[in-house]
Amino acid sequence: MRRVHPVFHYGETVDDYSVVRPLFLAESVQVYEVLNTHLQRTECLKLLTPRHPLDVSSQWDEARRASQTGHPGIVPVYRTGVVRSPTTSVNCPWFTMAYGEYGDLYRLKDFMDESGWDPVRQRDTFLTLLTQVAGTLDGLHRLDRPVVHGDIKPGNIVVSGHRSGQLRALISDFGLNMAGEGHRSMGGTPAYMAPECFEESAAHPTRDRYAFAVMVFEMLCGRRPLEVGTDSAHSWEIYTAYADIQKHAPRPRFSDYYPGAGARSVDELFRRALSVNPAERPESCTAFITDIGDALTGARRRRRAKKAVVAGAAALIVVGGGAALATGSHPRARFTCRAHAPARMSWRASTLLRRAPDSMRSKPLMSRPRRTRTWMFTRAVPSR
Ligand SMILES: Nc1ncnc2c1ncn2[C@@H]1O[C@H](COP(=O)(O)OP(=O)(O)OP(=O)(O)O)[C@@H](O)[C@H]1O
Ligand SMILES: [Mg+2]
Repeated sequence: MRRVHPVFHYGETVDDYSVVRPLFLAESVQVYEVLNTHLQRTECLKLLTPRHPLDVSSQWDEARRASQTGHPGIVPVYRTGVVRSPTTSVNCPWFTMAYGEYGDLYRLKDFMDESGWDPVRQRDTFLTLLTQVAGTLDGLHRLDRPVVHGDIKPGNIVVSGHRSGQLRALISDFGLNMAGEGHRSMGGTPAYMAPECFEESAAHPTRDRYAFAVMVFEMLCGRRPLEVGTDSAHSWEIYTAYADIQKHAPRPRFSDYYPGAGARSVDELFRRALSVNPAERPESCTAFITDIGDALTGARRRRRAKKAVVAGAAALIVVGGGAALATGSHPRARFTCRAHAPARMSWRASTLLRRAPDSMRSKPLMSRPRRTRTWMFTRAVPSR
């Protein structure tokens, strides 16, 4: 890939903003951490860098869609502006938005590895964040004119630290978003695109649900179910070849890649969520991720066992108490695997609270997943 030089450097000012550092540099997009000098607040600035002069107003579509949707689970957009590129002399539109200090889900994964988070804490944190994303997506899909994001993937979910100390997942990058089910367009990131996206079909929420399932698979297993798409291939022939792969390639089983317990019981959930037939997919992202979380954290088993435990508890207390009295010993404290300990908890405390099952301790939860970019090749299909 060609090396891209930043348009802005440390300390340069753009409007009310002082540039801190580049976060992401690509051919047509640059993302920076900036300081709002008036508010003394760190924000994120996205600069679009077209090579040729374009209608600047249409370039703000992404910012406009995100701010008009106005859901609390979406990265809030603050301001827009235009700056002349010193290299191409083209007017480049920019907009600022809330800063996700943990970056996207890939960067969060790096942060977890560097900070020594144990696998169970990583899994539970991803389950919590993905449940937040699921709630936001379901909210967008339930609007009178459903909003289909169209490009759900880990690179488009940014994570910020809430003042309460909890992590918060926000959906960003509405560059491809399709408002309403009547809109028809093609494009996206091939590995996350449902088979029907490659054909002329309406933008239906089931597309986002498919992409969401791919993302959940990836964040828990460290690989995507189907590896399709490269950064350089943008031709229509390759695009249609990917369509074939998406339709006909067998889906891998989740349990073949996930090292922890409970994987077998979610194979069927993924089979349905990644189905070629949109009607087979789950009704909502929340239902899907809740079922997965319950199965992997043992919540489902615990619920089933609860009745038996309650029935047997009285008898155990009587027998155990009697035995302790008889021997003079105290029942030993045991650490349990807590499903949703808050993300702000220190690493040491959470390790003590959650003893990882042996099967998960011996293997890394995730290998390093590879980032893949949205295809710039977009073929708009006129609405009927
Ligand atoms: N608000 C934000 N806070 C922190 N990091 C951000 C924010 N917005 C974007 N980024 C970082 O910049 C990257 C690229 O941003 P974005 O996805 O908006 O650009 P893009 O050109 O659409 O990329 P792609 O084609 O890969 O989807 C993100 O993956 C993320 O790492
Ligand atoms: Mg993106």
